[in-house]
Amino acid sequence: MDIAGKKALVFGGTAGIGLAAVRQLVELGADVVAISRDPSQTRSISEDVPDSITLEACDVLDRDAVAALCQKHAPYDILISAATGGDRAFGPFLEMDLDGYQGSFAKLWGYANVVRLGAQHLSEEGSIVLVSGSPARKASAGLAALSSVGGAVEALVRAVAPEIYPRRLNVVSPGTIDTPMVLAQGDERSELLASMTEGNIIPRAGTPDEVAQGIIFMVQNDFVTGTTIDVDGGVLLS
Ligand SMILES: NC(=O)c1ccc[n+]([C@@H]2O[C@H](COP(=O)([O-])OP(=O)(O)OC[C@H]3O[C@@H](n4cnc5c(N)ncnc54)[C@H](OP(=O)(O)O)[C@@H]3O)[C@@H](O)[C@H]2O)c1
Repeated sequence: MDIAGKKALVFGGTAGIGLAAVRQLVELGADVVAISRDPSQTRSISEDVPDSITLEACDVLDRDAVAALCQKHAPYDILISAATGGDRAFGPFLEMDLDGYQGSFAKLWGYANVVRLGAQHLSEEGSIVLVSGSPARKASAGLAALSSVGGAVEALVRAVAPEIYPRRLNVVSPGTIDTPMVLAQGDERSELLASMTEGNIIPRAGTPDEVAQGIIFMVQNDFVTGTTIDVDGGVLLS
């Protein structure tokens, strides 16, 4: 797909990986709508938000709101969701609060809503990209919830891609990425990101732009559907 002149909806497009995808889409000439629960602060907290984008408020867990927003902006060619959805549970599974475990699936429900309610307004050559995460295929202690959710997201993509042809559906799987999702600041942040990535083939956190490049590839390449790109510093082999 030639992105120039195309219309894109990016859920979770006001921070981190989603915002990086928004910036790259704008640079490539797309007309972009960036969506999150509260986009009102986006321009004041980040200098990198392009003036040309449309900001919309919508919770991906609110089906009526997602349906109305997709209808409002239809038709479009590119549909991306990087919305985290809600809180995530960490720690040993046998000690895990099961409400927390279940709640971690907010990311899957949000993605499911976006695909189910958004694909119908996508142009025939349109492309959908979701974002999973390396725990989907590399289990580590304490990450049972993230592994379960990420695996479900990738299974959803493989299951639905054949159904929506000629539209395409893919997923990008990041490793540890330096985004606002990582709450620690200053030295504590640098030390945390370093400790999370020190055993990787590429021993550093990735940037949102590096993940967004994977998203853009998935949008542009018309021969790619139902699959996953890992942008993770080689964590799967580490
Ligand atoms: N950063 C990492 O290390 C990493 C690693 C692996 C996978 N991932 C995955 O990559 C994706 C993006 O992560 P990120 O690090 O870029 O996160 P981020 O910087 O925290 O940005 C998340 C974005 O999603 C929006 N959002 C969250 N919940 C939402 C909801 N219920 N409805 C609508 N929008 C919502 C947020 O805006 P509002 O708060 O205003 O709604 C924000 O725009 C997520 O799926 C995450 O799990 C990240």
